[in-house]
Amino acid sequence: MYPTLLSPLRLGPVTLRNRVVLSGMTTGFGFRDGAPDEDAIAYFAARSDGPGLVVVGFGAVAPEGRVEERIPWLWRPDAAEALAPLAAAIRARGAVAGLQLGHGGRQASPQLTGLRPVAPSPVPPHAHVRETPHALTAPEIQDVVAAYARAARAGARAGFEVLEVHAGHGYLIGQFLSPDANLRDDGYGGADPARRARFGAEVIAAVRAAAPDACVTVRMNGADHVPGGLTVEDAVSVAPRFEAAGAHGLVVSGGVYGSVPYSIPLLDDPEGIFLEAAARVRRAVRIPVVGVGRIVRPEAAEEALRRGDCDAVALGRALIADPEWVEKAAAGRADAIRPCIATVQGCAGMLQHGEAVSCAVNPEVGRERRPRVAPARRPDRVVVVGAGPAGMEAACRAAELGHRAVLLERSEALGGALRLAARTPVLGHLGRLVGWFERRLGAAGVQVRVAAEADGRALAALEPDLVVVATGARTAPPVLDGYELLPAWTLEDLLEGGASTLGTTGPLARPVVLGAGQRGLALATWLARGGASVTVVADGRPGADTSGLAARALLARLEAAGARIMRGRPARIASDGVLVRAGDGERLVLADGVVIAEPLHPVAVDGLDAMTADVARVGDAGGPRDIASAIAEAREVVEAHTQARAGPPRAGRHGHRR
Ligand SMILES: Cc1cc2nc3c(=O)[nH]c(=O)nc-3n(C[C@H](O)[C@H](O)[C@H](O)COP(=O)(O)O)c2cc1C
Ligand code: SF4
Repeated sequence: MYPTLLSPLRLGPVTLRNRVVLSGMTTGFGFRDGAPDEDAIAYFAARSDGPGLVVVGFGAVAPEGRVEERIPWLWRPDAAEALAPLAAAIRARGAVAGLQLGHGGRQASPQLTGLRPVAPSPVPPHAHVRETPHALTAPEIQDVVAAYARAARAGARAGFEVLEVHAGHGYLIGQFLSPDANLRDDGYGGADPARRARFGAEVIAAVRAAAPDACVTVRMNGADHVPGGLTVEDAVSVAPRFEAAGAHGLVVSGGVYGSVPYSIPLLDDPEGIFLEAAARVRRAVRIPVVGVGRIVRPEAAEEALRRGDCDAVALGRALIADPEWVEKAAAGRADAIRPCIATVQGCAGMLQHGEAVSCAVNPEVGRERRPRVAPARRPDRVVVVGAGPAGMEAACRAAELGHRAVLLERSEALGGALRLAARTPVLGHLGRLVGWFERRLGAAGVQVRVAAEADGRALAALEPDLVVVATGARTAPPVLDGYELLPAWTLEDLLEGGASTLGTTGPLARPVVLGAGQRGLALATWLARGGASVTVVADGRPGADTSGLAARALLARLEAAGARIMRGRPARIASDGVLVRAGDGERLVLADGVVIAEPLHPVAVDGLDAMTADVARVGDAGGPRDIASAIAEAREVVEAHTQARAGPPRAGRHGHRR
């Protein structure tokens, strides 16, 4: 199984037990004034049993270089002592401990730092931060180099064996590398990439000198993916200079704030999106190169290594979603790996709002210190109605805790809202999560019944102790005049191949989509890619029901497909289109059909009032919510039921509060 992936790798002075790296990722929790606490230690420890190298994300070398609040502050005089328990916890699990050394430069927000950002030149970044940065003078550049050296010393003293200099993602060293950010005409800038690489090379040399026993790697971009940014040709010419400056290895990533693709690939961005650039950089150097970017399946990782794209793979969200990724791969159980769905609703989406990282598909993220719920002492019969994400999670969890779980689904197939969303290619990867749930249901021994109608009487006949209602929600067409004039479908009906209100079927040449949540946007993109001229009517902020980053990505795809957005509220359907109220007036959007994507209304189960069993509603059945909340509350309901049956919680139990 995956012989290359699981083989050791020599990286300068260290040897990794396998070629999987936990990519440096900020947690948004677990750090106070730059020092890790028990929560951070537990989070990293939980992810250190498998990978060869575990990298703690962005540690700031200077106060003005912070890009998030809860990160290592490496300028602290006691940084080594503060970080030592974290390095020790990672190493205790058999992984090599790594730490990123970073400076945000112009991408560091003054709202966060209270300080003016600095950069090679006074040019603001592409997104998120508006301030024009202060251009560093030559002596100030030397101060920053010295700050990297001090941080390296602290990191090495703390016990980190790998120090990863952050020269990518549009942060300070990356800004020096990028023609659009570096307009200097001194020895640190100019048309020649070698001159723009000088600052990075000086930092690498200083880090090597400050921590002579450490392995020094460099995270750099294969390309910035913004106009005027670093190109792959630049990266190929810069990489050997970083090698010459003393780097033991390179991590080749991509993107900056505001780029498409972004450093954190989204939605249907392809697996291994930055590997081509990694392969080109690898051919230019003799040191190992680590590939990163939406690498999710062990087979894909193994193939990348065999092809020679890279010498190791860094996994970010795959290891947030499933900390046992490596162990499952090694055991030949890749099918059991919980798949990340790349909408960053829990992880980077939370960070964007200054909140703790969580995970849409794994409610345990950030709660690693919470004691596991013990299996039920006496198995109950748990009946779950509806096989969307919430229902499947509830049924799996119930069976895994020892209950006799029955899952009833009205349609012929499992997946609910996930399966439907996966029919639009932009969200097609959601199908992987459905497949994972199906396998988990089988492994847990859940009794699954499809094409099963459930009402109070049918449920009572199953003699349940707990009924979990996870029937989801369906589009409820808004009250509008004119439905008799133009064919209309709900999103569900259209995706399921149903007929319109007037009995017609598609395809539509000029549809209007009512509703600009992620479902509406994904559907509109799909229709537009099929050649239709599509207008989406947005009554509110488009993509408001997903993370800001995923919304941006959805809108970029919609625009690329040629669809339009119109802000306003649908007022009436006419024979040739939909009248939309925007501002003071009404405008006609010409259309040959209407697809209604919102609002959603919960699907009810009849006859529940008479039930004597405990009844809990989870997911959209309790009102529309995101998948993260749906899965989390499904798990919570089943665990709470199990604990309640086990008696009062024992003293000394604690979860952590973030
Ligand atoms: C929540 C989150 C935090 C991240 N923080 C960092 C960071 O501190 N430093 C960094 O270099 N990259 C950071 N990244 C990017 C990841 O390291 C990785 O390069 C990116 O997510 C692509 O890999 P993936 O598709 O396997 O997640 C972060 C990504 C996520 C999702
Ligand atoms: S929140 Fe979403 S994108 Fe982030 S790790 Fe979890 S599944 Fe992946």
